[in-house]
Amino acid sequence: MNDMHHAEWLIDRIIFFESTPTVVELNNIKVCETVLEMSNNDDPDELDAVRSYNDAIKLARDVNDQSTVDLRTRILKMEEGHVDWAEIQLAQIAQMGLENFLVDQTEGAAG
Ligand SMILES: [Fe+2]
Repeated sequence: MNDMHHAEWLIDRIIFFESTPTVVELNNIKVCETVLEMSNNDDPDELDAVRSYNDAIKLARDVNDQSTVDLRTRILKMEEGHVDWAEIQLAQIAQMGLENFLVDQTEGAAG
């Protein structure tokens, strides 16, 4: 859900510059059938986002656009949190096994 807000903020910034955002060129959506598959796919995608925002921050710095640097830095920090979360999920699955991980994840939902 955070990532949708990121798109809104970036679109607002593009509109601020009186340009038109292009939102038709979307990345492929990966449909996963298992929790393990989802967890394995999530981490590389989040790492790609971190790399992309770091590159975008450098570009904004090159043109002395501090507001865009600040916005992208805010988003970058959130994406780093997503990487951390994804890596924690994978570590927990590796340490406790998938079945115990799933039980642990659903225990709070039942109460
Ligand atoms: Fe993310």
